[in-house]
Amino acid sequence: MSSMEPLSRREVVHGALAVGALAAAAGASSRSTGAASPAILLGAMAHELPPLPYADTALDPVISAKTLSFHYGKHHKAYVDNLNGLLKDLPDLAALSLDDLIKKVAGDTSKAGVFNNAAQIWNHTFYWKSLSPKGGGKPTGKLLDKINTSFGDYDKFKEALATAAKTQFGSGWAWLVANGDKLEIVKTPNAETPMTQGKKCLLTIDVWEHAYYLDYQNKRPDYITAVIEKLLNWEFAAANLG
Ligand SMILES: [Fe+2]
Repeated sequence: MSSMEPLSRREVVHGALAVGALAAAAGASSRSTGAASPAILLGAMAHELPPLPYADTALDPVISAKTLSFHYGKHHKAYVDNLNGLLKDLPDLAALSLDDLIKKVAGDTSKAGVFNNAAQIWNHTFYWKSLSPKGGGKPTGKLLDKINTSFGDYDKFKEALATAAKTQFGSGWAWLVANGDKLEIVKTPNAETPMTQGKKCLLTIDVWEHAYYLDYQNKRPDYITAVIEKLLNWEFAAANLG
């Protein structure tokens, strides 16, 4: 499984955009061919909030149900709603998958709103999968071998990931990625994501304040340590590594 696969199979629904497209197609058909265009209908599917892979109590006490429910139900959902709103007037972009949309508008300042909301949908879906109630501890097999060759040993890897997460100034993300044969730690500000840079994402930690403030207030390092020790989903990382 590649790092893209868990998110590229985005579930789509005939939501508000599809309803709008149906109406538009119906209007157009009455004036032209008399048949709605399948291309118009397919291109107008709305992005959907993917389900959480566990109950909102599953990560307690490292991440409380209160934090998880706000983070997923308010913040993640808002990015989905915002993106669908923005795409109503951008049919060419509305026709793209989430992955293709992010890559298409990355670096285009005129589409910063689309990029920020689309990338935040992707990043959050990836973050939920990067955590597991049965996570933490040390990976095994090929992934551990790669960690040892790339960072020296597992403890040095943990230190590098924690340092990146702690030192990301303001909002952003810390990532474990594969760059060719080597694993790297990268940090990204705001909605930026290594998937636009040809790097294969393996794991991420959200370090926006909304990810931890209800539970840890200003103690971001405590949140990071707890997530690394107890929640990192090494099965997901290994599947992404392939
Ligand atoms: Fe977040």
